[in-house]
Amino acid sequence: MPHNFLADDDLTPQEQAEVLDLAAELKRAPFSKRPLEGPKSVAVLFDKSSTRTRFSFDAGIAQLGGHAIVTETGNSQMGKGETYQDTGAVLSRFVEMIVWRTYAHSNLTDMAETATVPIINSLSDDLHPCQILADLQTVIENLCPEEGPAGLKGKRAVYLGDGDNNMANSYMIGFATAGMDISIVGPEGFLPKQEFIDRARIRGDETGATVTVTSDTAEVEGADVVITDTWVSMGMENDGKDRRTPFLPYQVNGELMGKAKDDAIFLHCLPAYRGNEVAAEVIDGPQSRVFDEAENRMHAQKALMVWLLEHQ
Ligand code: CP
Ligand code: NVA
Repeated sequence: MPHNFLADDDLTPQEQAEVLDLAAELKRAPFSKRPLEGPKSVAVLFDKSSTRTRFSFDAGIAQLGGHAIVTETGNSQMGKGETYQDTGAVLSRFVEMIVWRTYAHSNLTDMAETATVPIINSLSDDLHPCQILADLQTVIENLCPEEGPAGLKGKRAVYLGDGDNNMANSYMIGFATAGMDISIVGPEGFLPKQEFIDRARIRGDETGATVTVTSDTAEVEGADVVITDTWVSMGMENDGKDRRTPFLPYQVNGELMGKAKDDAIFLHCLPAYRGNEVAAEVIDGPQSRVFDEAENRMHAQKALMVWLLEHQ
């Protein structure tokens, strides 16, 4: 069975720290690891739109010596109903890894039934674990560069907005794995499902991290990291819910950001919608680290791919 990365808790706290250390090393020396020399190939599949994921995987795979086969699945037989199990078995004959951005999380676990190479979740409706690795790398660079991943313990992150989406779930599980206290703050009806809170708390019990879910924006007081994401995730555009009015009190603007620590940083996985989930004064202001965060997608994913190839 290959070691997949479908969810943030597919890496133990120790394994996550190893990947983050390697990400820092690869940022310093981008061509120092060449496990895909040949070039060997990696399938990078998209059921949904992407800018960062597409470019960071394609460029990162090239830096590892390999070749990315980037495919919009609508143009493949997957789009015509070939099963994910058959696709996983076939792709495993050609490539070293499969990276897939999809809708239902069960699509990934279906493919994992037959794939004999590692599968990386590059976003599902439930989780976006690659983004979390990049975010943790960015937090380390800003808040504990000397200590590395160990310095994340006890740091406090607050995510505001849609608490019932892939980013909120991954922040809970991935940040708790890193030992960070994580709070999800959103309106009633848009808070995380219990399943994901439970998984995050299991990790928190191991690492000492706390996981808080609330509708009270006072939670931002004293935060080290303030985060938001779009109010309308891909696939939620026509779900019949009002995705603006309930969220307005949760917009990260200067006033809300002012409640966090003076040296707090602001993160957003992007794409951002200024005037909705974040005010321009914050995302374009001095505490924003969103473009470092985007760059770190490539370094963190390269580290993940190297680590997975070494731990099959
Ligand atoms: N953050 C992120 O995954 O961006 P893309 O949708 O552009 O890949
Ligand atoms: N929650 C967003 C993240 C985009 C990178 C979405 O799923 O659309």
